[in-house]
Amino acid sequence: MINSKTTAKFRDLPTPFYFYDLDVLHATCKKVLEESSKAGFKVHYAVKANPNPRILNIISSYGFGADCVSYNEIERAISSGFKPSEIVFAGVGKTDKDIESALKADILCFNCESIPEMEVINSIAEKQDKVAFIALRINPYIEAHTHKYITTGVAESKFGINTWELKEVLERLLSLKHISLKGIHFHIGSQITKMSVFKSLCSRINELQEWFLSQNIDLEIINVGGGLGIDYTNPDKPARIEDYFSLIREFVKLRPGQFIHVEPGRSLVGQCGSLISKVLFIKKGSNTTFAVIDAGMTDLVRPALYQASHKIENLTSDRKADRYDVVGPVCESADTFARFIELPETRRGDIIAIRSAGAYGEAMASRYNLRDLPGAVYSDEI
Ligand code: LLP
Repeated sequence: MINSKTTAKFRDLPTPFYFYDLDVLHATCKKVLEESSKAGFKVHYAVKANPNPRILNIISSYGFGADCVSYNEIERAISSGFKPSEIVFAGVGKTDKDIESALKADILCFNCESIPEMEVINSIAEKQDKVAFIALRINPYIEAHTHKYITTGVAESKFGINTWELKEVLERLLSLKHISLKGIHFHIGSQITKMSVFKSLCSRINELQEWFLSQNIDLEIINVGGGLGIDYTNPDKPARIEDYFSLIREFVKLRPGQFIHVEPGRSLVGQCGSLISKVLFIKKGSNTTFAVIDAGMTDLVRPALYQASHKIENLTSDRKADRYDVVGPVCESADTFARFIELPETRRGDIIAIRSAGAYGEAMASRYNLRDLPGAVYSDEI
């Protein structure tokens, strides 16, 4: 928890940095473990949300698997305690080198997105004298009602196999001797807050199951992907894991011997991280006052890229409220964390927390403007 004691410590640390509240992470993992055991789901954490080794070590200690999108992520996951046999490899553009290495590492399954990809995996598996397990990622054409950059299951999406192609895909798949079909995979987008969207996905899965059945194909894994959103206005509120899992359990019609896999990213790590920054300058604009902080879009790109709104707190002022545009130092007008928000009167040197930044924060940091990458500080260290 961020309190006066932690804030006093923050003053002595070089900013900006990510502060990870490990109690929050443990509490979320416990909840996910409890609910997934109750529902009988296998959880694969989406490593892309936060591949920080300390965070991964904690998540793997709960016995979850990992969902990776590059061999570097697979390697990182394995060195952080995830079992290769519980790693799935997704992505619309896997390189030959990554496929070769993933096959050598004996991962659980490749989530495949096209016929050419199946053919490449097949030929690489043949060279290694192996059979690769695959799941078909299918585009279910479901509008996720989230930002368009993180919508992945509609007609214009580059992701997944079109349903009208499925017959051809299946025929080709069955002719390839070094791949074997294990299941089907979906991921319709991220930061989804409407439960009805997941309900539509379940209905679509049931329809597709019928189709596979009509083709005499048994599927072992039904992977519903990730996407559960968090409440960015309320950083202390846990994600709705229980509602989400019980909806899926209720609405996906499983056949005997089938298992549901889920791939939460944001809902596992989002609320445990805050970006901590110092106010550099207060600057008058013509219609506004800028609080220029030492964190920028290079540290947390979500507001600039997705117009995302993260709650911002001034941890060191209880002065009278005023309104500010909170901006970073990077040479881009998009380097703005919030406009015209209320904060207690803010001065140079105040400490700012940008909350709910544990997912896609540190993971997406860059060195644009040759800025340093943000550091990481953990609650058990200070
Ligand atoms: N599975 C697959 C195949 C994915 O592509 C993703 C995320 C996940 C699972 C995890 O989804 P989550 O539970 O985190 O929603 N950078 C964006 C989010 C990109 C999500 C990409 N795929 C953001 O900051 O909002």
